[in-house]
Amino acid sequence: MTIQRTLSGIALSAALALPAVASDYLSTTTRFTDDNADAATRVLFVPENTTIAVEGWSDAQNKQVARAAEIEAFDGSAAQLITLVAPDGTKANHLLLAGVGNPAELSRFKAENLGASIAAALKPELDDVVFDTRLIKNPGIAAEISAQVAHGIDLRNYRFDRYQSEAEARPQTNYHFVTASADIAEKHYEDYRAIAEGVFVARDITALPGSDGYPEAIVQLAQKAMQGLDIDVTVVTPEQVNEMGMGLLESVSAGSQHGSYLLAAHYKGSDDAPIALVGKGNTFDTGGYNLKTSSSSILRMQTDKAGAGAVIGAVMALAKQQAPVNVVAIAPLSHNLISGSATLPGDVVKAGDGTLVEIANTDAEGRLILGDGNWYANDKFKPRAIANIATLTGSKVGALGTGYAAMFASEDDLRQAIIEAGKVTDEKVWELPLDGYPGIIDSPLADIRNIGSPGTQAGAAFLKHFAGDTPWIHIDMAADAMVSSPTGIHPAGPTGFGVRLLTEWVHQLNK
Ligand code: BES
Ligand code: MN
Ligand code: ZN
Repeated sequence: MTIQRTLSGIALSAALALPAVASDYLSTTTRFTDDNADAATRVLFVPENTTIAVEGWSDAQNKQVARAAEIEAFDGSAAQLITLVAPDGTKANHLLLAGVGNPAELSRFKAENLGASIAAALKPELDDVVFDTRLIKNPGIAAEISAQVAHGIDLRNYRFDRYQSEAEARPQTNYHFVTASADIAEKHYEDYRAIAEGVFVARDITALPGSDGYPEAIVQLAQKAMQGLDIDVTVVTPEQVNEMGMGLLESVSAGSQHGSYLLAAHYKGSDDAPIALVGKGNTFDTGGYNLKTSSSSILRMQTDKAGAGAVIGAVMALAKQQAPVNVVAIAPLSHNLISGSATLPGDVVKAGDGTLVEIANTDAEGRLILGDGNWYANDKFKPRAIANIATLTGSKVGALGTGYAAMFASEDDLRQAIIEAGKVTDEKVWELPLDGYPGIIDSPLADIRNIGSPGTQAGAAFLKHFAGDTPWIHIDMAADAMVSSPTGIHPAGPTGFGVRLLTEWVHQLNK
């Protein structure tokens, strides 16, 4: 396997078999039927204001369960979860009561989070779990909630464990949802499963350490993940980056043995002009000569390629869904290192579009590679809109932390669609202004320069310059790429932030 051969690192290669298809990511199965079934572990969905009384259970049993629920203050509110051990008169060893609030109003992310809590509550070696939806009266809603819960379980069950010589057991469970509209649930689930697989690829891309996940290795990982899908992949090699004059992209890897690449992955599910998703793929950020000098600021900078993961994952999800949309992921990939050939602060570099850029700070590299990425998107694809997504600025973290990503938008329809997508997926965005900062990236030396103040706006202004007149949004997702402990639908580690958001954004735009 080529990718193993090119991976650096000592003797790790054998353990580093990269997953080819997303089924490699999970060892669980999920199915939906309308026949009742038995298992030692049962999950009962309970709407609020519901007397717990299940067909086939005796009065005594119903009473016992209702009493246990009362003792635990379980009232069926959304995403509440309690576990009862060996309830009397049933074969179940464990009965989980899962609150769904008012089922008609349960949001997608609440249902996903409920699934994540269920996944976290169950032992990985558990064989079978049956989900009972009978207390949700509307079969269509029961089907949708089942699919969303199953999706939340999948998202939480992902593990990035290839660097553990004795990895903790992965969940092995067969999840069986019993629901009257099983085929509708199955159809919803297939669409969510496509998204989950995109998220898994994004998480893998994000988490790969800097010495194994350099630009060419990410190209190979992505190519392998997209194999068999209806996606046209173009790989622009370092030589071609040079020939095409993408000096900004080239300059960021000038200090590395690994040159800059650009990957374009085009899924053409309609005849509309494409939507271009351009994501930052800086495979490691040392800062360059403007070195990240604190140990905490340089650690985890392999996650600086999360934007590339997000756009590749989103296009994969849309292709797997066979969505009627025309969308292209563009991932400029660089390795921001130091050596005798690295770019120096104050150097002037020519962009693909001819702009002369003063590299006033080599640590502001994301906007450089995305600038050429935006030019490439416009030049090759004539898109109807460009979305940038990037772990771009520390200032974003100062302003919004990890609760929101920063967002900029040039047009109202794009803005409304991304805000709505943020609400639906709970990958929330908050708009920052860009119109109050004239001259923010003016350079005393060249046409423009790559820094300015305030920092998040300067990054955005730089990207917008290279988007030209194309309708544009930008999402600064700094610090959203990874969580240090399990959080809702995310196990500890890479989040795949942006895949769910951008997939939903594209759907919103095509409504
Ligand atoms: N990759 C960083 C941004 C970042 C910081 C991501 C913290 C995640 C967590 C980016 O390339 C960077 O270094 N930005 C600098 C720009 C500055 C030099 C103008 C920053 O924000 O400090
Ligand atoms: Mn940087
Ligand atoms: Zn960076």
